[in-house]
Amino acid sequence: MAEGDAKTSRSDTRFGQGFLTDIWYFAALSSELKAGKLARYEILGEPVMLGRSPAGQVFALKDICPHRAAPLSAGRFTTEAGGAQSVECPYHGWRFGADGGCTAIPSLVDDQTMDVGRIRVRRYQVAESQGLVFVWMASEARREAEPTEPAPTFPGVVGGAPKLVDRMAFDSHIDHAVVGLMDPAHGPYVHQQWWWRSAKSQHEKAKRFEPRDAGFSMVRHEPSKNSRAYAVLGGEPLTEISFRLPGLRWEHVTVGKRQVLSLTCLTPVHATKTRITQIIWSDHPAFALLKPLIAAGARAFLRQDGEMVNLQNQGLKYDPALLWVDDADRQAKWYQQLKREWTASRNEGRPFVNPVEPATLRWRS
Ligand code: FES
Ligand SMILES: [Fe+2]
Repeated sequence: MAEGDAKTSRSDTRFGQGFLTDIWYFAALSSELKAGKLARYEILGEPVMLGRSPAGQVFALKDICPHRAAPLSAGRFTTEAGGAQSVECPYHGWRFGADGGCTAIPSLVDDQTMDVGRIRVRRYQVAESQGLVFVWMASEARREAEPTEPAPTFPGVVGGAPKLVDRMAFDSHIDHAVVGLMDPAHGPYVHQQWWWRSAKSQHEKAKRFEPRDAGFSMVRHEPSKNSRAYAVLGGEPLTEISFRLPGLRWEHVTVGKRQVLSLTCLTPVHATKTRITQIIWSDHPAFALLKPLIAAGARAFLRQDGEMVNLQNQGLKYDPALLWVDDADRQAKWYQQLKREWTASRNEGRPFVNPVEPATLRWRS
């Protein structure tokens, strides 16, 4: 889909269309953004340059030079006379500060007076914590809106650098990717590897859910008896699975004092492409030994989901109505309610009120 198409659908609130705005989107790992480097990303169909100044500050600008549209990310850092760092466009050397203001147009001669500071590149607010960089995507492109809430933080970011980072892109809208990841009923059909579970052992499940932040959690519980992967952790693991808007899902496992956090971040590239970043932190000794196994396992899971998305696209291209069946699809319904409430509360300028009611959901899987 062309970028223009992705843009026109931005405020569309139908399932599988548009994007949530005035919210933090995961953009990159801190470790991807090296000091003095610029990088190009596409988020919600917009080209975004993420940079880290030589002094270590992360910032984001629209990756289109206001002169003649060259990507600023293809430029470089330069040092102004006063010592400040700016980004130099690769085409004609116009320079921009981290706030997006133009600081110099090298082609101007002395008596060509021009207030270069009035030329601005759109700036995005960024937040960096726990080794993650988030970008605030405001509803109005022209408004450099201040974030109305702090960027999300997660429990269980332990053991130093992540033990595993895996990236993939799904050829689908973020809504389908989110619902695909939270869907409890596809496991026995899509993920049949022996070390995870046996296809034959479908059980009736009953899990307790409660509202949390801009999302919900399957509250801490013992993993299902037909899930084998937890066995490598030994002890008596407890797990809690949480989701929050716009597309963050994490599983936090505790085994005594040890923890594992598996965080999945979904970031829309455009209307029909979603970037998936999976990050695992842990201070559990099993990771020292089993890291390659765990990495291969996580990758197999994501790949199977991606293949199913491709199959599903064969049907979705006819824009069919979708059926949501309780209780297995209740989380998908909550996701849609959360999105509606997020948009309504932003439009009405009021606090978000979580629409999810505590519930015990039951399904076979
Ligand atoms: S396109 Fe950037 S300076 Fe000309
Ligand atoms: Fe899956």
